[in-house]
Amino acid sequence: MSTREEILSKVREVPSLPLTATRMLQLVQNPDTPFTEIQREVELDVTLASNILRLANSAYFAGSGPIASVRDAIVRLGTKRILQLVLTTSVAPLTSKPLKGYGLRAGGLLRHCAATAIGAEQLSRELQLNAPDYAYTAGLMHDIGKIVLGTYLEIDATPVLDLAYKEGLSFEVAEQRVLGVDHAEVGATLLEAWMIPATVVDVVRWHHSPDAYPGPERFVVDLIHVADHVARVSGTSAEADGMNYSLSVEAVERLGLKPAITETVVNNVLRSLDEICENLSQ
Ligand SMILES: [Fe+2]
Ligand SMILES: [Fe+2]
Repeated sequence: MSTREEILSKVREVPSLPLTATRMLQLVQNPDTPFTEIQREVELDVTLASNILRLANSAYFAGSGPIASVRDAIVRLGTKRILQLVLTTSVAPLTSKPLKGYGLRAGGLLRHCAATAIGAEQLSRELQLNAPDYAYTAGLMHDIGKIVLGTYLEIDATPVLDLAYKEGLSFEVAEQRVLGVDHAEVGATLLEAWMIPATVVDVVRWHHSPDAYPGPERFVVDLIHVADHVARVSGTSAEADGMNYSLSVEAVERLGLKPAITETVVNNVLRSLDEICENLSQ
């Protein structure tokens, strides 16, 4: 079995998302789900409920006035926002270990992924693109393949990084050369096994190659690709592969992104990120 086949078969054995997150994904996707069912699902998980309340009260999610109950949180924020909160709190524990070779401290990837998710939302707002709600989810999960490679498969990324630096390659190209597969494909394979909606899986799969994306919603892929870059330039992502990020100029052009907007988005990301990450790590 090649390294690639071995990695992809092991990926399918990675433990699933917490049950609540999977259930919530199903409930929220169904427009006929009664409001009370979502409320009950959240309340059943005490840790989740308290995390949601804390996050719901953060400036980024809430805006004005304190939110005192799960019911209030759902009414005020809406079920889509609640799903984002559930996913954010579910993904957070997965990112708590350092990733060898990726130069990431514990929690470093969460910061990067949260910055990308917020960046995508802010870009969408500033560019008036009206991005679908799954853009935030995709931003949050775009590098989940790194967690799988670094934590569950215990692959040391040092040789990948060495090759990237020696030959001036982007990190994902070096991953393909050394491992036969990159973290984008590993992440997409995992999310498919987790039954995450195909829209999110697609964005994760193509986040480093938006120009080659064959599907209909390219602007969401562009958005995450550029938000990933924004997360790096905002200095929130202490990733060792940060230097070699190959930003698609075409994606920037397709979005119509101008430097002034990037600056606004970077500032907005910086303003919200600490608060969101602090609430998640408590
Ligand atoms: Fe990535
Ligand atoms: Fe990234």
